[in-house]
Amino acid sequence: AGTVRLAVIPGDGIGPEVTAEALKVLEAAAPAGVKFEGTRYDLGAERYLATGEVLPDSVLAEIRDHDAILLGAVGGRPGDPKLPPGILERGLLLRLRFELDHYVNLRPSRIFPGVTSPLSDAVLAQGDVDFVVVREGTEGPYTGNGGSVRVGTPHEVATEVSLNTAYGVERVVRDAFARADRRPRRRLTLVHKTNVLVHAGKVWSRLVDEVSREFADVTVDYLHVDAATIFLATDPARFDVVVTDNLFGDIITDLAAAITGGIGLAASGNINPDRTAPSMFEPVHGSAPDIAGQQKADPTAAVLSASLLLDHLGHVDAAAAIEAAVLADLAARQPGATRTTAEVGDAIAARLA
Ligand code: NAD
Ligand code: IPM
Ligand code: MN
Repeated sequence: AGTVRLAVIPGDGIGPEVTAEALKVLEAAAPAGVKFEGTRYDLGAERYLATGEVLPDSVLAEIRDHDAILLGAVGGRPGDPKLPPGILERGLLLRLRFELDHYVNLRPSRIFPGVTSPLSDAVLAQGDVDFVVVREGTEGPYTGNGGSVRVGTPHEVATEVSLNTAYGVERVVRDAFARADRRPRRRLTLVHKTNVLVHAGKVWSRLVDEVSREFADVTVDYLHVDAATIFLATDPARFDVVVTDNLFGDIITDLAAAITGGIGLAASGNINPDRTAPSMFEPVHGSAPDIAGQQKADPTAAVLSASLLLDHLGHVDAAAAIEAAVLADLAARQPGATRTTAEVGDAIAARLA
């Protein structure tokens, strides 16, 4: 019971369209006695272009004072000269992940019944595809630890130095082990590139090894990230919990989305497991400028992200009810039939009524 205070950042492109549906479904799933109180923040391209502001400190402080954050997507159309790449991605999205210490970027991947995967029947016959990627969210090559000299000349040199601290790696590895320990198969795969990135590789391998001693029932294995992409396409059923660095996790989770029915279904949680700040839930996809404003986006990823949000806040039954409503909707989808973004949201919400 009580009030759940949500900071809502619809953002850019299809962000507002899919967020509206996620909120609709959240309302429909609200447990008895629970009220959602949403504060909307108009952060994103429009605000930046009008005012030059990306994420003012005062707004960040306000957002921090919520129970959770629901985000749509941020980022402009690639190539737009008024919006150079990185301004919103780094200044808004990554700043939120870093400042709110979202060190577990949780990305579940499952082929839901009735959903068409591009994988062949032979690949799918190997077993159920149901894994979760625990992507490190606050370090790696994402920290902005780099720079350029002699910019624009033939002698330009640019660096992006991957940051890997024992503290940062250990905490995400421990979280991944704990998740693996709660799943029936209890299997954890470290994905890295220890054969080339030997310095970062050593700290990841060492901490997986050390933490594994606390989890005797979890089976551990290792894959280089390039080989992991092979297995995602040829034997994805082998994966249970994958733990990996920020950039590898970004790339393999788009692939994971593609093999499990498309980017329109892939949900994520940027989680602060220590609960020192609100966690943030968002689809894996971006602002999709190519289909924005046309009610063509699939809001399912945003809706499933709302389910992860409820689960994180302890409303596990309501979270499961949303997932069940999505599963029912997916199973009823007609191949070739097109519904608007709002029609999909309405249909899922109606199943909860
Ligand atoms: P994207 O995920 O926005 O789009 C890739 C492709 O997937 C496009 O063809 C798009 O139409 C399609 N797609 C995405 N979501 C869909 C949905 N819900 N339903 C149906 N189709 C969907 O990736 P991009 O084109 O590389 O990036 C566009 C912008 O979004 C960039 O500015 C990028 O930086 C930003 N971005 C933001 C986030 C985020 O906010 N978390 C994530 C990724 C990209
Ligand atoms: C994602 C996105 C972001 C990332 C970008 C927009 C910063 O691709 O959430 O997967 O790389 O983490
Ligand atoms: Mn991504």
